[in-house]
Amino acid sequence: EEELDGILRLPKVELHLHIEGAAPPAFIRGLAKEKSVNLSGVFRADGSYDFRDFARFLEVYEAATTVLRGPEDYARLTTAVLEQCAENGVIYAETFLSPDFCGGGDLGAWREYLQAIREAADAAEARMGVTLRGIVTCVRHFGPDKAKAAARCAAETADDWLVGFGMGGDETRGQQGDFAYSFDMAREAGLRLTTHAGEWRGPKEVRAALDDLRVERIGHGVRAIEDLGLVDRLAEDGIVLEVCPGSNVSLGVYPKLSDHPIRALRDRGVTVTVSTDDPPFFHTTMRDEYRNLARTFDWREEDFVQIAQDAARAAFCDDATRARLL
Ligand code: ADE
Ligand code: ZN
Repeated sequence: EEELDGILRLPKVELHLHIEGAAPPAFIRGLAKEKSVNLSGVFRADGSYDFRDFARFLEVYEAATTVLRGPEDYARLTTAVLEQCAENGVIYAETFLSPDFCGGGDLGAWREYLQAIREAADAAEARMGVTLRGIVTCVRHFGPDKAKAAARCAAETADDWLVGFGMGGDETRGQQGDFAYSFDMAREAGLRLTTHAGEWRGPKEVRAALDDLRVERIGHGVRAIEDLGLVDRLAEDGIVLEVCPGSNVSLGVYPKLSDHPIRALRDRGVTVTVSTDDPPFFHTTMRDEYRNLARTFDWREEDFVQIAQDAARAAFCDDATRARLL
């Protein structure tokens, strides 16, 4: 237990965190009250987010975002999220930002949201020492045309803060390759690439992410374990998995953490990192993830140090920023 305290106190690097998904329920309720928005069906009686499966999770997520109506709301959200990060010993986080939710894909509006988020992040870094970088993410079930608008926003604002492009949303719809145009546009703008794959669909989806979108990191990727040839490829090519164990258990990808393949993937040489995805939705934090992994897989402080160092090496930030994390 003394060792567990040491593990929980380690500096952490989080690569997979959706900004809207990190909104505390009380924060969303507060905005709903201010704006007189009726969010019935979003919360349980105990105040937590109410969903029973992935489809409903996405609906509740999108309903909650309807109260986030302008750059100032996102600035306040950024501050709230970074306070949670700091409380958990996170020293660096990358967050998914969607032009779809931040201005509806309009470039001018997106610039205003981005500026507000960055200003809030800079203030939080000065106050709490936690560094944030942004990854524009398109939403798979919104389709390839919306993704192109998101990619254009990303390409136009790519810089040392807006460092990546990715895709989340409903993996059971369409194909990774439908979004190749957007990923190519982002790559040409110098952005680093990641996509959600292998959370709901199996190994084929992970192969498509590598072959059709040519990403260097994969969100989740855990169902790659069902194809050991693919596992070897991930290990050999140094593809980094952004693993979110609590998310996978909460959404029912695996019944319990002891069934989760994170240890098997790691033992086979895949670079795994640990993130929370949408922490209040899944009743988790980075400290909870570390505690549960330590207990379930008997991981030691050295394992968590390696995971955080691997996450720092896989971070999309510039090398001067990375050097502060290593
Ligand atoms: N958006 C937010 N969380 C997600 C998840 N776990 N999978 C796909 N899209 C998401
Ligand atoms: Zn995610």
